[in-house]
Parts: sequence; C-alpha cells; structure tokens
Amino acid sequence: MKDLSPRPGDLDPIEIASRDEITALQVKRLKWSLNHAYDNVPFYKASFDAAGVHPDDVNTMQDLARFPFTVKQDLRDNYPFNMFAVPREKLRRVHASSGTTGQPTVVGYTQGDLDVWGGVVARSLRAAGLRSGDMLHNAYGYGLFTGGLGIHLGADSLGLSTVPVSGGMTERQVRLIRDFTPKGITVTPSYALSILDEFAREGLDPRDCSLQVGIFGAEPWTNAMRQEIEAAFDMHAVDIYGLSEVMGPGVSMECVETKDGLHIWEDHFYPEIIHPETGELVADGEQGELVFTSLTKEAFPIIRYRTRDLTRLLPGTARSMRRMEKVTGRSDDMIILRGVNVFPTQIEEQLMTVHGLSPHFQIVLSRPDRLDEMQILVEAAEGFTSDESRVHAAADLRAKIKRNVGVTVKVELAEPGGVVRSQGKAVRIIDNRPKA
Ligand code: DLL
Repeated sequence: MKDLSPRPGDLDPIEIASRDEITALQVKRLKWSLNHAYDNVPFYKASFDAAGVHPDDVNTMQDLARFPFTVKQDLRDNYPFNMFAVPREKLRRVHASSGTTGQPTVVGYTQGDLDVWGGVVARSLRAAGLRSGDMLHNAYGYGLFTGGLGIHLGADSLGLSTVPVSGGMTERQVRLIRDFTPKGITVTPSYALSILDEFAREGLDPRDCSLQVGIFGAEPWTNAMRQEIEAAFDMHAVDIYGLSEVMGPGVSMECVETKDGLHIWEDHFYPEIIHPETGELVADGEQGELVFTSLTKEAFPIIRYRTRDLTRLLPGTARSMRRMEKVTGRSDDMIILRGVNVFPTQIEEQLMTVHGLSPHFQIVLSRPDRLDEMQILVEAAEGFTSDESRVHAAADLRAKIKRNVGVTVKVELAEPGGVVRSQGKAVRIIDNRPKA
C-alpha cells in the first residue's frame, strides 16, 4: 500500500493546535451556541428554563454538563422545522432521516453551515490521504441521506474530481472504477463487500484497480473487516463517522497514517461520554454513550444530543483533537440474549476468523418457546461447496461465538448470494420475536 501520510504544511493550524488553544476556542464558541439556541429555538428556551440553567452561567466546558440532554423524540416532536434557529429563507439545504421507523427527523443548513460542513469533510478526506486534483468515486447514496451530498460538498471544497455515482447498480460501479481509475472510494463497508463480489463475479482482481484508499462509515464495522478489505483491494481502509443531527459525515475521521480511532473535529462538535442509564458523565477512556453539542451551527444548533452510539474518548495522536474509538454499536442495536449483551459487530468479528464463510450475514431473532433464540444467517464463501466443509465452518463459528461472545446460537449457511445485499447501510438484525 502507498504511503499517504500528510506532508508538512498540509494540515490546518487548528488540527495541530495546543489543547489550550482548542479549549479557549471551544469555550468562546460554546457560549455563542448556547445563547443562539436559547434565543432562537423555543424548545431550548423551555428546556434550559425548566432545568434552571442559563447560557450566561457558562465559563468552562465542564459547565455544559448542567444543561439538559436532547433526544431523537424531541426532534420528532418539533417536526418539521421547529428546531431551526433561523428564518426559513436562510436555509440553503435540508436533509432528513428516512423515517422508516417513525416520524422522520429533519435537519437544516445555512450557507455558513454548508461552508463549515464542506470544510470538515475536506479535512476528513485529506486525513484519508486525498489531495486536490485526486479523483474520488462517491458511492454513498445521494438524496435526503447526508452521506452522498455531504461527501460531495467536502470533495468540492478540497478540490477533488468527484464521480457522484451514488449507491446501487453494482456492475456499473465496477466498470467506472476500472475506466476512470479513481484514487479513493467513499462507501458503506457493507456495500464495499458487494462491489468486491462483483469484481470476483467478473473474474477481475480488485488488487489491480487504481484505488489507494477507501473511506468507510455510516454503519459499524470491525478492525477484522478492515483487514479483509485492505487485503482484498490492496488499499488503505479508514473510518469516517457522523450523524445528520450533528451535521452528517465528517464529525470525526480516522487518519490514514495511524488508523487508531477517529479524531473528532472538536472545534465544531464538542463530545461528552455519559453512562447510558444514569446520564452521568464518565471520564475520558471509559466506555459509554456519545453525546454531541454543536459549537458553530446556525440553522440547527444541537445541544447535548444523545447519539445512542457507544464508544470512548481517547487523547489525540496524529492530530491534537481527541479521538473516539471505533463505534462498537448503537445501544438500540444491542441484543440481550438470555442476559448476555450482544452487538452485531461481535458476531462480525468472529465470522471473519472462520475459513469458508463470506462476510455477508444477518442475525435472526425468534422466540419459538418462551426463550429468545439467535440464528446467524451467513453465506458460504464462493467455491466452498462440499457439505462436509460447510458443516465444519458452521460448527466452527458456533463454537467461536460461544467461547468469545458467550451466547449459544444456531448457524445457517446460505448459498453465495443468499443473504440480502446492502446498497447503503446493511440491515443486520431481523427481529421475528412477538412484539410486546
Ligand atoms: O450515516 C452520516 C454518514 C454518512 C457518516 C456517510 C459516515 C459516512 P445518519 O444516517 O444520520 O448519518 O446515521 C448516523 O450512523 O449515529 C451511527 O449509529 C451510525 N454511524 C455513522 N458513521 C459510523 C461509523 C450518517 N463510522 C448513525 N461507525 C450514527 C459506526 C456509524 N457507526
């Protein structure tokens, strides 16, 4: 793999500023952001007043912990535009969640917000090793989802040649990668696997393609998956994180030279980690739920937003800003099977170590008697056809999950192509248990 490390002078001064400089900027911006929310969004005025706190009481970043949390339901209750802090005419863009699980949530951006977003995504793409003039194949979905258009904005700001291919039509993805020879690809890790399969189906070796770096996010993925993708394409694989409520992609980003977790762009998004049940702050280094406060957003300021994503905060390395560890999962995706907590990423980690299995899988939950059961539906690898070897692979996975995750599961092997393919975010859990 090519060395894509930054050269002296490549980075913005703020990325390597001292912690004191970063904190001073954060305090100044936090005061502005809290006042902006309080003065312009009735929801924040009511919630701060109810908690007996006022933006003028804030002197340090620690003071933020006295403010109330914001949760997804608050955004739903204020559908569509009541969380906005600027007149409708000042909006240059709206995005929204798909709303498949209820009322969609809508977020908005002023021109200033789009400039900041483009800036942090540009910083992220540069952290992955891309530079002005490089070509980027952008396979995140375009539309109300923030992935496609958010990456596009940052790619424009960095000066890349963007191929706005969006998700789907996998044959065309492979064709364009071969014909246009991009240096980078932005795509969900699960859809990257579908693209990989298409290379194999056409008898092509993906290591011969031009890609030097893949920028994967929008869903959890493991370091085991990183190794698999890096080996298959002979390219770097780095993690990008974000969520619509806070901005979109580019809230935090892994650096290609260290690949040791994601640097949070703390000059715009302030992170805290809380205990998911008590809501108490936990110290840096401890696991918990990630909470974000926007420091510069105009249209849609967000204060202490509970992301439901589980991770921990770590000190800076390649940049001065703190890192978050790879997200292990969302608290909503945690399965409690007979008292044991299980995340889909733990299953992914185990199945990547079993010979003869593909990385395409789903977890099917059922309750045949009164106890919950978990079945792992996973595809046999291409060419892995004998019954005996398949039985062996299934038994191996079952044993590894029992030993390392601590739960008893059934494993069902599907034919190659037998597990539903993702074109964006993968659906990992099929819950067939009766609804309470
Ligand atoms: O997924 C934004 C995004 C687009 C990020 C493209 C990266 C690349 P939402 O659709 O609002 O926004 O979903 C946000 O996705 O709370 C996490 O649960 C999950 N997520 C996003 N990035 C990662 C990641 C976009 N790198 C939700 N690792 C978040 C794990 C991620 N989970």
